[in-house]
Amino acid sequence: PYVVTENCIKCKYQDCVEVCPVDCFYEGENFLVINPDECIDCGVCEPECPAEAIFPDSEAIAGKWLEINRKFADLWPNITRKGPALADADDWKDKPDKTGLLSE
Ligand code: SF4
Ligand code: F3S
Repeated sequence: PYVVTENCIKCKYQDCVEVCPVDCFYEGENFLVINPDECIDCGVCEPECPAEAIFPDSEAIAGKWLEINRKFADLWPNITRKGPALADADDWKDKPDKTGLLSE
């Protein structure tokens, strides 16, 4: 499956949501996750993300994010329509080390 990684935090552009054929995104306050058990590996969401936050779990950068996506997909509501990005999304887009800012 594909997973959402750190770059999404505090951005949440949501372009990914619109294109997913199986609606497997789940929404937290400042981050989205993919349910890795529902993702069909189509890959169409990956190039849509302006923050380049989406990767296949086979890539090293995905690392711990597979388990994080699985955990929150169980806790957060499903999202199928794109809403507005977070207010400061463009400011946070290229910031490193955002993992600690993820709102649970
Ligand atoms: Fe949805 Fe395809 Fe992205 Fe998986 S890879 S989350 S199925 S758009
Ligand atoms: Fe996040 Fe990118 Fe989707 S910033 S909400 S993974 S379009």
